[in-house]
Amino acid sequence: MPYISQSFIDDLPNQIDIVDLISKRLSLKKTGSDYRAPCPFHGGKNRNFAVSSHKQFYHCFKCGESGGAISFVQKIDNLSFVEAIEAIANEFGLKIEYDSNTKPVDPRLERYRDLSQKVSAFYIQQLRSSPAKEKAVSYAKNRGISGEIAKRFELGFAPPSNNDLLLAFEKDEQASTDLKSLGLIKTGEYGDYDFFRDRLMFPIHNTKGNVIAFGGRAFDNKAKAKYLNSSESPIFSKSRELYGLYHARKFSRTMDYVLVVEGYMDVVALHQAGFTKVVATLGTATTPEHLQILARTTNTIVFCFDGDNAGRAAAWKALKVTLPIIKAGLIVKFLFLPDGEDPDTLVKKESTKAFETRIEKAQTLSKFLFNHVKSEVDFDTIEGKTLFLEKVSVLINQVNYEIYQQQLIDGVAQVVGQSVEQVQTVFKQQAEQVISTSIDPIPTLVVDDEPPIPDFSDFSDDYQSPSPTPKENSTVKVLMSRMISLLLNYPSIAHDNDTVEVRVRALKENDKEFTTLLDLVHSAEMVEDVSQEELLKPFKVKTGFYNRLQELCALVPFLSENAAKNEFLDALLKVERRQKKTQSLLIKDEQEYVKSLQARRGKKS
Ligand code: GTP
Ligand code: MN
Repeated sequence: MPYISQSFIDDLPNQIDIVDLISKRLSLKKTGSDYRAPCPFHGGKNRNFAVSSHKQFYHCFKCGESGGAISFVQKIDNLSFVEAIEAIANEFGLKIEYDSNTKPVDPRLERYRDLSQKVSAFYIQQLRSSPAKEKAVSYAKNRGISGEIAKRFELGFAPPSNNDLLLAFEKDEQASTDLKSLGLIKTGEYGDYDFFRDRLMFPIHNTKGNVIAFGGRAFDNKAKAKYLNSSESPIFSKSRELYGLYHARKFSRTMDYVLVVEGYMDVVALHQAGFTKVVATLGTATTPEHLQILARTTNTIVFCFDGDNAGRAAAWKALKVTLPIIKAGLIVKFLFLPDGEDPDTLVKKESTKAFETRIEKAQTLSKFLFNHVKSEVDFDTIEGKTLFLEKVSVLINQVNYEIYQQQLIDGVAQVVGQSVEQVQTVFKQQAEQVISTSIDPIPTLVVDDEPPIPDFSDFSDDYQSPSPTPKENSTVKVLMSRMISLLLNYPSIAHDNDTVEVRVRALKENDKEFTTLLDLVHSAEMVEDVSQEELLKPFKVKTGFYNRLQELCALVPFLSENAAKNEFLDALLKVERRQKKTQSLLIKDEQEYVKSLQARRGKKS
């Protein structure tokens, strides 16, 4: 396959004008030195979407979408990178230069995918011919999996011995090394051994149908780990993959909805019962990446959870991830199953029609949102209603899609029996006010109506050069940078400690260190085992910013997880103390304070 030459790609922005390109798709209005339009990505009415002819860049001040010409066409026309370049070249009458010498970026990827396919074939073969296969065959039968469905999902069997996989590939040196990189062969005290042993194997496919990883179900419910998953690798990231998506697309006529369930077995059992529009997360909470992928696949996402407390908590987490991402044309619903049931057990008990009805009757996002918050307060009292308003306003302020946000506000007015104007006032105040710790930790986007032109330049120079700001301020900056470094290297700091996000949010600083720290804390809190790469990804579009963050990554020496956590919490405490001091003393006499502080500092050193 020919590749578009890198020099053509690099030169493309010089060949075209992004303003021309975008004005063919949106009605741009000149405002100052740039052009404005309602944002096509989040669907608002205000002209938050800016196009800079000078920088050949677009940016939405409300939803944060930004990029250059290629990224715009990719997103708006839903095209791949190459397709977008072809579309632009076609539109502007440019001849694309192809380069037949260019190699795919990382040769490992293709090797890993080929090998995973071979490993999958090995497990399938074992299910047919291993001397121990009976166990697996009867387990699958007992769980109601037909031969046809086992074949559809390419189920396999990892035999009980320590080294069947190892031996099968032992003659191929490269494959043996690669199996270790993929986590399928482990090295222990007594040498190398197979990671998956005595399990029913579920290959995990990417959307193109390549095998990229495996899940393995123990036959004994008392096994230490009921399921094992392949470790993360260059071809597999749990936070981005959905089990069954490939099969859903392949075996469904339309994708008018997608049901999101929790387990491998749920996906398989639902196919067996005729429900093919179904995917599962891989033992993780739903991530923003999952949602983006789903939103490209369907316009109705139905999250399906157990009706117990754990299920409700997981659903609530999914709702919070959804709010900032919901956009025009996307409907999100929640289906709660009876206590103690999962889709696998339920679909075996009741008719297809009954389960279909459950899907049709799934709760809307707004209904779940209102009911859930209602259940957290004493709604029959004035105080409870006030708390309800405060809590829902923080959540609804997260919604970037303005029309939907307005409808939610209308809904709140109905629920509390007040006028829309009254509710709107509370929402405005809430958006400006401190987010108190009693409220769920979720990120807030502070948005101006007429904000300045975005600063696409470097992150900040304050770190290297002496800062012109008061000493106190720069100490806080240093502490914040340190927290960023620590968090990038030890994301579990935020994941293991529920209060970190609330505390960081309460700092309410107004600079880049703070907003960056908050974004990072939030991502780390949402996604267990988030990788550094994933944490950094959203910052990639802002080059200078990204470089600075990469520098900060490198600034942390090797610490134990505990030491890192302590240092982070210590820095956080220091910033909190400094803020408290600053606030109370500023009221008295700001200058007096700075002086006395400097005097005290002088004494110490
Ligand atoms: P069955 O018991 O086989 O019906 O599985 P299930 O799909 O009902 O599993 P469950 O609801 O307990 O868990 C849902 C998903 O979480 C599974 O499909 C796995 O992806 C994951 N999971 C469950 N148990 C484990 C475990 O012990 N280790 C890991 N890594 N993941 C697990
Ligand atoms: Mn189950």
